[in-house]
Amino acid sequence: MKVLVVGSGGREHALCTMCTKSLEVSEVFVAPGNPGMKKSLPKLNIVNIEQTQVEELLNFALNEKIFLTIVGPEVSLAAGIVDEFRKNKLLIIGPTLKASQLESSKTFAKEIMKKANVPTANYQEFFSSYEAISYIESLPDQVTQKMVIKCDGLAQGKGVIVCLSKSEGVKAVNDLMINKILGFDVSHIIIEDFLEGSELSAFALCDGEDFTFFGTACDHKRLRNNDQGPNTGGMGVYSPANSLDEMDIQFINEKIFLPTLKTMKDEGVPFTGILFAGLMKTKLGIKVIEFNVRLGDPESQALLPLIEDDMVDWFLAAAKCQLKEFKKVSRKTSPKFKNMKAVHVVMAAYGYPGTEGISIRSGDDLIFSPEFNLSPNDYLFYAGVMKNIGHEFLQTKGGRILGVTSLAETYTFARSQAYNNISKIQFEGAQYRSDIGQGLV
Ligand code: AMP
Ligand code: GLY
Repeated sequence: MKVLVVGSGGREHALCTMCTKSLEVSEVFVAPGNPGMKKSLPKLNIVNIEQTQVEELLNFALNEKIFLTIVGPEVSLAAGIVDEFRKNKLLIIGPTLKASQLESSKTFAKEIMKKANVPTANYQEFFSSYEAISYIESLPDQVTQKMVIKCDGLAQGKGVIVCLSKSEGVKAVNDLMINKILGFDVSHIIIEDFLEGSELSAFALCDGEDFTFFGTACDHKRLRNNDQGPNTGGMGVYSPANSLDEMDIQFINEKIFLPTLKTMKDEGVPFTGILFAGLMKTKLGIKVIEFNVRLGDPESQALLPLIEDDMVDWFLAAAKCQLKEFKKVSRKTSPKFKNMKAVHVVMAAYGYPGTEGISIRSGDDLIFSPEFNLSPNDYLFYAGVMKNIGHEFLQTKGGRILGVTSLAETYTFARSQAYNNISKIQFEGAQYRSDIGQGLV
C-alpha cells in the first residue's frame, strides 16, 4: 500500500516515520516534505508539490495509485483537499471544508459546542467595536476583570488576545477592529470568559460516526522559559498530559468528543480526521478552549512515537469509516500506547516567531557534534531546513528548524535525554526553551 503524507514540518516527519514502520505500507511519499526527512528515512519519496496545490496532489495520487493520504496542515484542509480526494474516491485522513469550520470559525465551533452541551467558556458575539466596547464597559467594575477576545476566521494563531483588565479589553477591540493590527478587516469578534487552570490537548481519530481516543499532550506555546515572550506555534511538548486521570479521559471522551461528533453528524457535517481539543482543566472541571481539526505540531511529534500499535491500521479504518468494526475485530477501544513518557524540544531560528520586530534568520549550517547519537527511543524530526546542491550541511530555512523527542520510563529521564541530544546540535542564533517538562517526574 502506498501512502502520501501532505505537509513539510516536524509533524509530517513524525507521520512519515510511523508510516514507514507500518507492515501495511510499501512506499511512503511526502509532499512537499523537507530534505531533513531523508536523513532518517532514506527510502522516503519527496514529491515536489506544495501542500496547497490540491489539483496537482490529486493527479499525483491518482497516477501513483496512492491508497491512503494523510493531511498534516490546516492550509491543505482549507484548500479543500479532502473534498477533492473524496470526490475521486480516494481514502484520506482529514475533515471536509465544511467540517473544518470547527477550527476556522470560532463562532461555528461555539455553536456546535452549545448544541452538543460541551463545556466551554461563556461568550458573547459582536459585529461592531461600539457594541463590544459597550459590553466590556458594562462588566463588573473590577480592575482585574479578565477576558479573552477572539476574531472569527483563521488568523495563524494571532487572532486571540488574552486581556487581564477591562482597559486591555477595550484596547484589544480597538486594535483588532479599528486599527486593524492583523493587517485585515475584523468585523466579527467574540469575547469570552477567561478560564483559569492547566492547559492541555486531547486528540480523537474520527470517521464521521465513531471515534477513538488518540492521546494527550501539553504544548509550551510561549517562546521563552517560564511561559514568557511571544506566542509561537509551540516550542516543546510532553505527552501524555500529566494532569489527567482515568476519570478525566472518560469525561473527555463522553462529554467532549462523543457529543461533538454526534452533533456534527446531526447538523449534516460529519467530522472525519483528527479532532484536536485544546482544553483547560479548571477548578470547575475540564472545558474546551478551542477545537483544531488536525494533529498538533509539535504535539504529534511527542504523541505519535508513543503509539505501540500500527498507526496505519487505525488511520485506514478511520478513512474507510470502519472504526466501529475495527475496534470489534481488534478488541481494542483505542490504540495501544507504550507505557512511557515523551518529551519533545524544538529548536527555532533566531528572530522566530517574527513578532518582536527582528527578522527571522535563515541560511545557517546545522552542525552536529561527533557525540550526537540517537538511541532507539530518540527521534530527530526536521521542519524548516533546506539543502543546497554541493553544500555539505543542511541549512536553516527560518521558523521552527527541528525538534528532538525522547521516550523514557519517566518524564525526568525523557527530558534529560532530549536535552542531551539538543546540546549536540548547533546553528547560529538557535533558540530553544530549557524548561520543557521541567518539574515532572
Ligand atoms: P486559541 O487560538 O483559541 O487556542 O487561543 C490561544 C491561546 O489563548 C490558548 O492556547 C490559551 O492559552 C489562551 N486562551 C484562549 N481562550 C482562553 C480562555 N477562554 N481562557 C484562558 N485562556 C484562553
Ligand atoms: N501546537 C499547536 C498547534 O498545532 O496548533
